[in-house]
Amino acid sequence: MLRFGLIGFPIAHSLSPWIHNRLLEDQQLNGSYELFEIEPADFNKEILNLKKKELDGFNVTVPYKERIIEYLDEIDEAARFLGAVNTVKVKDGKWIGYNTDGVGYVTSIADRYPEHLKELSEVLILGSGGAARGIYYALLQRGISRVDIANRTVAKAEHIIDDLNGREKSSPLSIEEAERKLDKYDIVVQTSSVGMSPNDQQSIVKVDKKLDGALFSDIVYRPKLTMFLKQAQEFGADLHFGYEMLFHQAVYAFKIWTNTSPETKKILIDFERKLEGE
Ligand code: ATR
Repeated sequence: MLRFGLIGFPIAHSLSPWIHNRLLEDQQLNGSYELFEIEPADFNKEILNLKKKELDGFNVTVPYKERIIEYLDEIDEAARFLGAVNTVKVKDGKWIGYNTDGVGYVTSIADRYPEHLKELSEVLILGSGGAARGIYYALLQRGISRVDIANRTVAKAEHIIDDLNGREKSSPLSIEEAERKLDKYDIVVQTSSVGMSPNDQQSIVKVDKKLDGALFSDIVYRPKLTMFLKQAQEFGADLHFGYEMLFHQAVYAFKIWTNTSPETKKILIDFERKLEGE
């Protein structure tokens, strides 16, 4: 019997149990995925209790992606660079930290839109928080030739680029500059929380140029069709949705824990239906 779970606060509405239970089912594995909601004041004590539970792996979400690091025995390179861990694998009693956010996102684009994500693609990331950092890392790892980052606070975009020695492939931009050249990219990824429900009338940029042949992507998954994506659709872009990133970062964690390759197409369709029904 495999035991997985999630730590975070609050997590009662997490979609992870649904995804992982379907993946376990798909692989005909006997296992469970439990929620361990930990109050911030109890973190240090509860994390030691978790060590005793002999889980096979667990996910880590807000607000513990950084705090978990000091409890790990090992950390992989991406997670170390990102300074954030969202997946822990337990191997021979040791806790090994990973970060599947960026790579999950890039995998989800590669799966669905391989024609958009080629080495010669030019990509623009909007925003410079933790999600932007993970996606930037994963895009550079994949060898993408140009990845610019635009942010309201341009210095934060500069920081991310410099942390990865990305100056040859990347320019930091203001939101206004990005807005003016939105039609110059193959892929534009929105990584900020702007447009998230209940502020679903907001968009980080105004889209007002023809975008035929481009892919526009938003990591916000509520609503599914954000104002950013809605505008892009009106100007002819293909769309990639936030729920796909959410799904694929979970699949990536599952693969790390189980060394399996689940068939995800049908589960993803069901996941989209589940979200629409909520
Ligand atoms: P994460 O959860 O990914 O770490 P975060 O640190 O909250 O997110 O970062 C959110 C991102 O959204 C930042 O890039 C932030 O811009 P600043 O760095 O200038 O603060 C961006 N963001 C949030 N609200 C915004 C707004 N109203 N307009 C433009 N950008 C905004």
